[in-house]
Amino acid sequence: MLILGLESSCDETSASVVKAENGKREILSNIVASQIDVHRLYGGVVPEIASRAHIEAISRITYEALETAGVTLADIGAVAVTAFPGLIGALIVGVNFAKSLAFANSIPLVAVNHVKAHVSAAYLEYPELEPPFTAIVVSGGHTSIYEVGSYTDFKTIGSTRDDAAGEAFDKVARVLGMPYPGGAEFDKISYGGNPFSVTLPSPALSGDTLDFSFSGLKTAALNHINGVKQRGDEPNVSDIAASYTLAIVKAIVKKASMALDKTGSDKLVLAGGVAANSHIRRELDFMCQKRGAKLYVPSIKLCGDNAAMVAMSGYFEYLAGNLSGTDLNASANDNI
Ligand code: KG4
Ligand code: ZN
Repeated sequence: MLILGLESSCDETSASVVKAENGKREILSNIVASQIDVHRLYGGVVPEIASRAHIEAISRITYEALETAGVTLADIGAVAVTAFPGLIGALIVGVNFAKSLAFANSIPLVAVNHVKAHVSAAYLEYPELEPPFTAIVVSGGHTSIYEVGSYTDFKTIGSTRDDAAGEAFDKVARVLGMPYPGGAEFDKISYGGNPFSVTLPSPALSGDTLDFSFSGLKTAALNHINGVKQRGDEPNVSDIAASYTLAIVKAIVKKASMALDKTGSDKLVLAGGVAANSHIRRELDFMCQKRGAKLYVPSIKLCGDNAAMVAMSGYFEYLAGNLSGTDLNASANDNI
């Protein structure tokens, strides 16, 4: 069947047509309109500007996705839309558009959880991947570990108690002069630095817990940068980036490994925008290989926000019979 996916939870308007049948998955189109250039002027996402930009883009992006796929609405078996979590005004644009489209054309409507969608991105490229497995989602809004029991059932077994890993990267990147969102540039710059040059606290909370806290790490890095500046020196950007990245990577590897111990799983899915980080990909892969587990991580273009992952997640919700009615509403909160 063909699923039309729609995504508008943050600063990317996206529409995609995915063909899914008996374990076969094909992305027929995946159009992403990024608003980053607009938000960059403000150093972060401005919610009202995001909502307005989604309204302007969503019809055009949807028809572009259908046209690129070479299909019409009459061929679509389900409309899947991100309904939560995210920026409420941004979500409402996608949900309302999807509702109108689905009901005006008598197409089943499926509400999708954005975080589950990030994990579902792995199914697009690893058709052999089947639950149960353990998943870690690292993005601009989330840092959570899940025990994935089925295509639609997720149990949260660890999460951040404050900032998300992406927020932590973006904040320090901004103070070091990198444009928003700084995560990708931070990744590149870190290769030129000494990861042992700045001592920073670990964002992995100690003990048995699988939880993280990034605020102490972020504050320590900002204090270090301010201290260097107060002494009249220039902070060594690559040394700070390398040390900061090492602290985050070590914490993620440690908690992911503990999660595999806890769940007894030998399959780990890494997903979310921060899953594009080359150090996290490499070190998690290394950890998994060492313990005889397999790491499943989407290619970079499917790590960031996109509607193909929403269509994929929507397909499984559809198969599970989780259809939405005309009363579907968006929610800013995660309801996993
Ligand atoms: O999943 P995503 O596109 O949006 C949310 O759902 O939050 O994630 C965006 C986040 C941003 O914080 C961005 O800086 C980060 O992903 N990011 C990276 C890299 N590429 C994107 N962080 C670290 N290293 C990267 N290579
Ligand atoms: Zn996301």
